[in-house]
Amino acid sequence: TNDISILAIESSCDETSASIILNGKVLNNIVATQSVHEKYGGVVPELASRAHQENLIPVIQEAISSSGISKDQLSAVAFTRGPGLMGALLVGVSFAKAFARSLNIPLIDVNHMQAHVLAHFIDEPKPGFPFLCLTVSGGHTQLVLVRDHLDMEVIGQTQDDAVGEAFDKTAKLLGLPYPGGPLIDRYAKEGNSKAFAFPVTRMPGLDYSFSGIKTAVLYFLRDQLAQDPDFIEKNLADLCASIQYTLIEMLLIKLKEAVKQTGVKEIAIAGGVSANSGLRAALEELSKKRGWKLFVPKFEYCTDNAAMIAMAAHYKYLKGEFVGLDVTPLAKMKF
Ligand code: KG4
Ligand code: ZN
Repeated sequence: TNDISILAIESSCDETSASIILNGKVLNNIVATQSVHEKYGGVVPELASRAHQENLIPVIQEAISSSGISKDQLSAVAFTRGPGLMGALLVGVSFAKAFARSLNIPLIDVNHMQAHVLAHFIDEPKPGFPFLCLTVSGGHTQLVLVRDHLDMEVIGQTQDDAVGEAFDKTAKLLGLPYPGGPLIDRYAKEGNSKAFAFPVTRMPGLDYSFSGIKTAVLYFLRDQLAQDPDFIEKNLADLCASIQYTLIEMLLIKLKEAVKQTGVKEIAIAGGVSANSGLRAALEELSKKRGWKLFVPKFEYCTDNAAMIAMAAHYKYLKGEFVGLDVTPLAKMKF
């Protein structure tokens, strides 16, 4: 048949995921989340690699069996080549090579950041070209100008921590468990975002910096706790609301600047932090006010997943963009 069916694998960080896409339609998205990192307050690379090794085959088996497509019908195998943790990437890449070789089908390498953007093409409504995508997660903060499915340019990015990292690290200072982002979001709903003022870091151009707020919160808490050991407990909601407000401000300042510079008014958000209710509300309000068209994918496709890898692979398959068995993962990877 002329069907295009691709098995896609994601293993760049702490999610092991597999997905089958048939003729551009995602059939499933199986994700095994690694809980082993919780007690360490962050992703431990060595443990991530081991968990991928354990989870990968079951996740792939489930993706294939629930798709109704037999492995002999697959047109290609796709994998995340980077950016990500080297040991974690190696697990997915090595499997993909062996699988492609055994089935004698092409191998497709996918850039994880490009895939986050292409998650917007899994379901309707899909953004039109060109659009701006703000990719925000625990590992990334990027402003991307998207001209076509495989033609995109990073026009701004963080020079240090990712915004999700800033959420998680400040949450840790407040004594919240990892990952703290969703908890800050939850407590912020009952707090006053103007209760405390934290500095808004301004980088040149469209770039971001999120490491300063962590230090600002650290010193602020140290001073307050010296006077009142229960300061955090008494002010948790206000602290969360104020931190969240500052982080969202920083994201929006550059997004507004990017719209001004490019004239593009179709705005998409991607990555785990796009689940943040404060960010969503602020974006919806801004969009209404400024006539932007806003695209927010299902949360399942915002966090790390193989469906977005499959979507990217589909477009690469159509263009015949395959790689050889000598391909290696890239911890840092540009597009
Ligand atoms: O995309 P993702 O699942 O993984 C990568 O980092 O690639 O993003 C996880 C990040 C974490 O930093 C987490 O705290 C943050 O997304 N996050 C949130 C929320 N939900 C997830 N941050 C703020 N508010 C949320 N509701
Ligand atoms: Zn990611």
